[in-house]
Amino acid sequence: MKAVEISKDIYSVGAIDWNIRDFHGYSTEKGSTYNAYLIVDEKVVLIDTVKREFTDRMLENISSVIDPKRIDIVISNHTEMDHSGGLPRVMHYIGEDKPVYCSKMGLKNLSRHFTSNLNLQPVENGSELNIGKRTLTFLETRMLHWPDSMFTYDKMDKILFSSDAFGQHYAGFETFDDRVGDEIMHHAKKYFANILLLYSPLILKLIEKVTEMGLEIKTICPDHGIIWRSDPAKIINAYVEWSKQENKKKAVVVYDTMWHSTEIIAEHIAEGIASQGVEVRPFHIRSSDRSEIMTEVLDAKAVVFGSPTLNNTIFPTVADVLTYMKGLKPKNKLGAAFGSYGWSGEAVAEIRGNLENMGMEIIDPGLRIQYVPDDKGYGEAYEYGQKIGKAVNDAM
Ligand code: FEO
Repeated sequence: MKAVEISKDIYSVGAIDWNIRDFHGYSTEKGSTYNAYLIVDEKVVLIDTVKREFTDRMLENISSVIDPKRIDIVISNHTEMDHSGGLPRVMHYIGEDKPVYCSKMGLKNLSRHFTSNLNLQPVENGSELNIGKRTLTFLETRMLHWPDSMFTYDKMDKILFSSDAFGQHYAGFETFDDRVGDEIMHHAKKYFANILLLYSPLILKLIEKVTEMGLEIKTICPDHGIIWRSDPAKIINAYVEWSKQENKKKAVVVYDTMWHSTEIIAEHIAEGIASQGVEVRPFHIRSSDRSEIMTEVLDAKAVVFGSPTLNNTIFPTVADVLTYMKGLKPKNKLGAAFGSYGWSGEAVAEIRGNLENMGMEIIDPGLRIQYVPDDKGYGEAYEYGQKIGKAVNDAM
């Protein structure tokens, strides 16, 4: 494998993970990459490493440019092990006395991850490091994605090494945004919805701060996926839009079903919603991964959950998606619940309670239909969908 030159003397040296399909519960149907970057200046700098098992691949890529032992400085923008897993071996190989620059929280977190004797050098927010022709600036970006996260900015080349931010789980040799189509925006959106959504207020503040600082950004090099070089503003603007959570005239209907009754109700509800000119996306939970569902929830105004009642409670798969969604803290949503039941029928009220706890405005106490819906039930479900559709229109 060879390094890919991004700008003169700056290379992408990370690894492609073609086969990963589950990234701690997030479906990665296109695989992923663990990006690391090499700057060859008077000092040779490596920014981030890769997942531990890809360390040889990264060293091989670095070797296509320079002997890895010539690396003088390593910068760790983020402690999570998809970017730091290779660090102990790299340092062992190039010399453990060489400095690893990181944020102050990076110092704590890296120390808690690795027993190796790393020469960790914490940096101040806004501090600079001269490496020859270039000066690198460190910007703390707490919680994007972890408390230790930071960006590194190369003033000379106007490159922002953005760690997890602006990434996508997408494996490919394309490397740059201009070599892939608009499909990449779906992967960027999915990444935002499932990893960064809960930090939306911090993202808006950060983008505001970077704008105030007047940082000129020609290229964004994230730690996953392709590099934004043709139009970095496109992904920055998308982050602003997604962070605002202003939502579209759209509803997502998420359900599971035991004997198709809740499924039939879901379909009639979806039809009722669509009759009001509202885009609707139904998801049978066992046919769609939770991270795909969350991607559609990101810009939907209404979130509608359906569950049969099983053993006096909601179906376990529905509880899974509700729990996942709660952690991601979607904002400005309308909520509604439905489901079939046999004799007790607690599921709808439980869903409603979950949606209320997420701060959603409840459209209606919920629709319950006993056992199997008949023509009357179809009509009730359709009307319930119409009510949801009208509520979405009224809220826009
Ligand atoms: Fe790609 Fe937060 O690690």
